[in-house]
Amino acid sequence: MTSPRKPIRKAVFPVAGLGTRFLPATKAIPKELLPIVDRPLIQYAVDEAREAGIEQMIFVTGRGKTAIVEHFDVAYELEATMSERGKDMAILEPTRFTPGDIITVRQQVPLGLGHAIWCARAIVGDEPFAIILPDELMVGTPGCMAQMVEAYNEVGGNLISVLELPREEVSSYGVIDPGETRGALTEVRGLVEKPPVELAPSNKIVSGRYILQPEVMRTLENQEKGAGGEIQLTDAMARMIGQQPFHAVTFNGRRFDCGSKTGFVEATLALALERPDMGAEVRAMAERLLAR
Ligand code: G1P
Repeated sequence: MTSPRKPIRKAVFPVAGLGTRFLPATKAIPKELLPIVDRPLIQYAVDEAREAGIEQMIFVTGRGKTAIVEHFDVAYELEATMSERGKDMAILEPTRFTPGDIITVRQQVPLGLGHAIWCARAIVGDEPFAIILPDELMVGTPGCMAQMVEAYNEVGGNLISVLELPREEVSSYGVIDPGETRGALTEVRGLVEKPPVELAPSNKIVSGRYILQPEVMRTLENQEKGAGGEIQLTDAMARMIGQQPFHAVTFNGRRFDCGSKTGFVEATLALALERPDMGAEVRAMAERLLAR
């Protein structure tokens, strides 16, 4: 029997990063606003959260990142002009929010993902909450967070999304020590951030989606620096294993690592090829380019 659980109403988006891997594109534009075809990365992440029933979006931002908040505001001049010209404004629908449902906090100093999440503690309060890393573009039906919420309704506790990578690639990620597996759910026995390949407990990596209990904020409070000299979310989660249920959900869908340039190009191509309005044209273009 499944017990009633507190619904997941809030999602935290850590978006304070400097985006140095995409310079000079990201000198004046937040990397989260770089578009895959015509939707910025942050829009994909927010849409995924909404599809999962999440209402409040909490952005942990930093200096130079205010354009992200503008993106989800009402653009009065734009809308007035579009409406005068009789243009369809449905395209702006996903950028609209109930007043109060877009919330921002600032992370003043880039001390790591764990620290970024901790910056949202007062807004998260005493509720379980989701975390979405917009760099990881997850494409699926339903989306990754919706799959996780479904799993959460079954098992509760803490959940992370995982996927399998070739072993030699795991050192750039959080890696789980897997226990028993049942369907898409795997028990998490341990977690380690960016281990050397030979010490990695598996090839299942943490892929940027989390549902966590609010106690993680208390754990983060006393968190020491971990891998890369940063305060790591993975380390705080590892300390909660054994105290609360902890499961991994293997995402049924595709993942694009948009934190890397090649992953970004792959996502652009893949999504453009699938679009009814341009797929055929892009395919013909790609074939022409490959034939050269
Ligand atoms: C972060 C997390 C890591 C996770 C990764 C997914 O690392 O710390 O556990 O596997 O995101 O992209 P970062 O990419 O910020 O170094």
